Amino acid sequence: MTDRRYVIDELISAKSIAARIEAICHEIREEFADTDKLVVVGLLRGSFVFIADLVRELDLPLEVDFLEASSYGDGMESSREVRILKDLRGAIEGRDVLLVEDIVDTGHTLHHVTKLLESRNPARLRTIALLDKPSRREVEMKADWTGFEIPDEFVVGYGIDYGQRNRNLPFIGKVRFT
Ligand code: IMP
Repeated sequence: MTDRRYVIDELISAKSIAARIEAICHEIREEFADTDKLVVVGLLRGSFVFIADLVRELDLPLEVDFLEASSYGDGMESSREVRILKDLRGAIEGRDVLLVEDIVDTGHTLHHVTKLLESRNPARLRTIALLDKPSRREVEMKADWTGFEIPDEFVVGYGIDYGQRNRNLPFIGKVRFT
């Protein structure tokens, strides 16, 4: 938790998020139309709302698994050192994998987790991030699909937190300190 006072200004509405997911899912469905071995891997905790909407819109035969990596802790600064706090339940060797991330910020998390998953020899690994802050990048990484590119703002909502709060907002908002 944080005791700094702040307000949240809406940046991306729930309606815009839904429309973008629908559009991206057309492309993802084409990519994975040839497989019945798809595993959608959600990176906890920030992707839990996104993955729920994504898999329902995808409407493909698929399994869902989760991986938890440490990044921001309870604050606003990336730790840069990525640790796996909770591993996948299932093996992904020979499977088609779609990794779902909430935000690509410095890029360290996506870099570390894709390397880890690739070392397990999936048949295909694709990545999707709801948000991307390209101006913050420290490691050259880009998800195969991105929902929205955003400026260097600290955002919350739609699964994403500040000090573990605000994950339940239906839209993406930016934090403004008062
Ligand atoms: P990266 O390793 O710096 O790319 O950080 C990725 C992770 O940092 C994301 O999965 C988020 O959990 C967290 N993060 C990055 N930017 C924000 C933000 O604006 N709000 C909340 N969490 C963020």
